[in-house]
Amino acid sequence: MISYEELVQKAAEAKEMAYVPYSQFRVGAAILTEDGQVFTGCNIENASYSLTNCGERTAIFKAVSEGFRKFKAIAISTDTEEITSPCGPCRQVFIEFGEDIDVILANVSGEYKIYKAKELLPLAFSPAKLEEERKL
Ligand code: THU
Repeated sequence: MISYEELVQKAAEAKEMAYVPYSQFRVGAAILTEDGQVFTGCNIENASYSLTNCGERTAIFKAVSEGFRKFKAIAISTDTEEITSPCGPCRQVFIEFGEDIDVILANVSGEYKIYKAKELLPLAFSPAKLEEERKL
């Protein structure tokens, strides 16, 4: 199993592929599956701005589309000194695949902080909540 330092490094490398002609704000992500595989992603912008896909979601969607749904951690890397906090929609997507996923937020120097997905989205609407409702 790769270390969180290595996962952060992979997220930093994924940043190189960011397609950011509008914001110039590069985001790289690397998601670690429970069985040790890594999928990377970057943000991909669009002239129709709202179609932009965040780096985190690119990585998750790549993994899910290859048949992986159980994740241990996702590392996110940006070029800023302060760590970047993921956007709301990405938090909702983390929750979909596990409230206990470690979300590793890394700055430009590779320093990082770790949060649980559920910490980043308190009172989340989750698949578990939907399941509880169905049973009532
Ligand atoms: N962005 C991400 O890739 N992830 C986030 O969590 C926040 C924002 C991207 C979207 C856009 O390409 C750029 O950062 C500036 O908002």
